[in-house]
Amino acid sequence: MKSTFDATGEVAVITGGANGIGAALARAYAAAGGTAVVLDVVRSAELDGIDRVEQHQVDVSDRDAVHTVIADVVATHGRIDALVAGAAVQPRATVVDLAQADWRHAIGVNLDGVLWCCQAVLPHLIERRSGAILVFASGLAHAGRAEASAYAASKGALIPFAKSLAAEVAQYRIRVNTVFPGVIDTPQFQAANPPGGEREHWAATIGIGVPEDVVGPLLFLLSDAATMTGSTLTRDRAFAKE
Ligand SMILES: NC(=O)c1ccc[n+]([C@@H]2O[C@H](COP(=O)([O-])OP(=O)(O)OC[C@H]3O[C@@H](n4cnc5c(N)ncnc54)[C@H](O)[C@@H]3O)[C@@H](O)[C@H]2O)c1
Repeated sequence: MKSTFDATGEVAVITGGANGIGAALARAYAAAGGTAVVLDVVRSAELDGIDRVEQHQVDVSDRDAVHTVIADVVATHGRIDALVAGAAVQPRATVVDLAQADWRHAIGVNLDGVLWCCQAVLPHLIERRSGAILVFASGLAHAGRAEASAYAASKGALIPFAKSLAAEVAQYRIRVNTVFPGVIDTPQFQAANPPGGEREHWAATIGIGVPEDVVGPLLFLLSDAATMTGSTLTRDRAFAKE
C-alpha cells in the first residue's frame, strides 16, 4: 500500500523547523501541498526559496513573540491546521555543574515554549473544531542520561502534558500526540553526541536514522488517517544504511 498525504490548502506551524527533523517535515509538508510555517531562532538557507515554506525568526520561549507571530500567520493564511512543536535545546552538564541559566533555557524552550505555542494556536484550532498537535519526547525521558538532566526532565514532562491537553481538547476533535523519533542524525544530535561517546554504541545497536526517516510517521499523525489522540508513537530503531 502506497502512502500519499495531501495537505493542499492546509497550514502547519513547525517550531525548530530550520534544522533536522523539523526541516525535513517542512519540505515534505510543502511537497504535499500544504504551507509549512517554520518558527526558529535561526533561518535556514536550504529552506529559502522552497514554495510554501515560510520562515519566521522567533524564540519560542518568548511568550509575547509567539503570540505575535501566530497572530500574523492567522492574518496571512486565515487558518492553522497543525502545530508541530519541535524546538528544543540540550545543554550538556552534570547536575552538580548545571548553571541556572542553562536549566532555565532548556525548560524555557523545551517546555514553556511548547505551552506558549499551544496557547497561541489552540484558539484557532478550537474555532475550527479540528487540528493536530505533535510534541517530541525522547528516549532520554525514560532512560535519562548523564549530563542531560535538563533535557531529559523537559522531555519527560511533555508526555503527561500532551496527554492532559489531549483530554482537554478531544471535545473539539483536536488530536494531540507525542512522538519518540528514535536516534536521528541532526545538528542537535551531533552537538550532544561528539564522536567517541554513545554515538558508536547507538550506531551498533538501535541504529542512527536520518531526519527523512521521521517524516512518514509525522505526516501520518498530522493526517486524518491518524484517528488517535493522547497517544505516543515510538520509532524504536533505524534500518541499517544500505
Ligand atoms: N535527533 C534525535 O535523535 C532526537 C531524539 C529524540 C527527540 N528529538 C526531538 O526532536 C525534535 C527535533 O530535534 P532535531 O534533532 O531535529 O533538532 P535540531 O537541533 O536539528 O533542530 C532543533 C531546532 O530548534 C531550534 N531552536 C532552538 N532553540 C529555539 C528557540 N528558543 N526557539 C525556536 N527554535 C529554537 C534550533 O535552532 C534548531 O533549528 C526536538 O524536540 C528533539 O528534542 C530528537
